[in-house]
Amino acid sequence: MNSLLLLPGDGIGPEVTAESRRILDALALPGLAISEAPFGGASIDAHGVPLTAEAEAAALASTAVLMGAVGGPKWAGVSYDIRPEAGLLRLRTAMNVFANLRPARCFAALASASTLKPEVIEGLDLLFVRELVGGVYFGTPRGIETLPNGERRGFNTQSYTSSEIRRVGVTAFELAKLRAGRVCSVEKANVMESGVLWREEVTRLHAERYAEVELSHMYADNCAMQLVKAPRQFDVILTDNLFGDLLSDLAAMSTGSLGMLPSAALGEAGKPGLYEPIHGSAPDIAGQGLANPCASILSLAMALRYSLGAPEAADRVEAAVEAALNAGARTRDLGGTLSTRGMGDAILAKLGA
Ligand code: NAI
Ligand code: MG
Repeated sequence: MNSLLLLPGDGIGPEVTAESRRILDALALPGLAISEAPFGGASIDAHGVPLTAEAEAAALASTAVLMGAVGGPKWAGVSYDIRPEAGLLRLRTAMNVFANLRPARCFAALASASTLKPEVIEGLDLLFVRELVGGVYFGTPRGIETLPNGERRGFNTQSYTSSEIRRVGVTAFELAKLRAGRVCSVEKANVMESGVLWREEVTRLHAERYAEVELSHMYADNCAMQLVKAPRQFDVILTDNLFGDLLSDLAAMSTGSLGMLPSAALGEAGKPGLYEPIHGSAPDIAGQGLANPCASILSLAMALRYSLGAPEAADRVEAAVEAALNAGARTRDLGGTLSTRGMGDAILAKLGA
């Protein structure tokens, strides 16, 4: 039986997660067990730690985890190892999620709000698969040293092993099979040895196991240009930690508000995925019913598609969000006046339609 653990967290986390919960209840998926646990500051208040052993075990035993957000000024003063953010890091480490999924999708109703021309961005639907636990952010040696001539030198190491490349490659190819069936692998094999190995390993994995998926390669600088010039050419973009950090932010922001952007982190096949909005706990608007719940609801749709084996339900949820936007439903961040609950109502109404 599939199970989904909700970790609402802090600030607007519980507000937006409550709307995802209402969508889930309306879907009434057979054989899906739903549970909830305190997380982050809420867990510190109740149990003294941001992630209890019970909540961690529940996450590891579930099929998918849907998080809200953690943190806020209330817990800014607590010691580092029991901060809300420490709970998030511990959860990600325990779940061994090495692939970060960042979709960039442009809903027609919001295309005119993009910084790109509507005819360039409208209908965009691409998915970044970014390697998350390796590369230059983690490679050794790293440091700042003083040279014999007195100059200082800062250095980091970009490093990838075959197995690190292959496991995130598997994630990208498997997801492409659930989408339009195309993977573009992005590196700088022209100037970096780690990029040469990346291209070789992805090419070999493709030939061995994923011939039915269309594979192309692109240099990261060209990819940046293409994302602005003709972003709709992409389906899945597979890339490393550093390039993925920059390129996924670039693509996501061209589609609109922070309140619309979902994400996921996946580990080995068959292990639970961690789904969450890109945004944080937004203490400035928390408790006022102003938060846009779409990022959480679209994160739920990703969980349905990529972990819970319910792609039809995922399609229904995404179509309902799109239909609500087409009908003019807007929270304040999108220039409208609907409350969090009001936006949830508008999406629920379309889900039933
Ligand atoms: P934030 O994403 O919480 O807020 C940035 C701005 O966007 C704010 O003006 C906020 O009102 C607005 N915003 C965010 N989500 C929105 C939504 N759904 N609807 C409408 N407006 C929205 O980032 P910030 O302010 O840097 O961080 C606040 C707290 O959240 C901090 O404690 C931070 O550590 C935490 N945080 C947690 C994350 C997580 O749990 N994964 C990720 C990012 C930040
Ligand atoms: Mg970033």
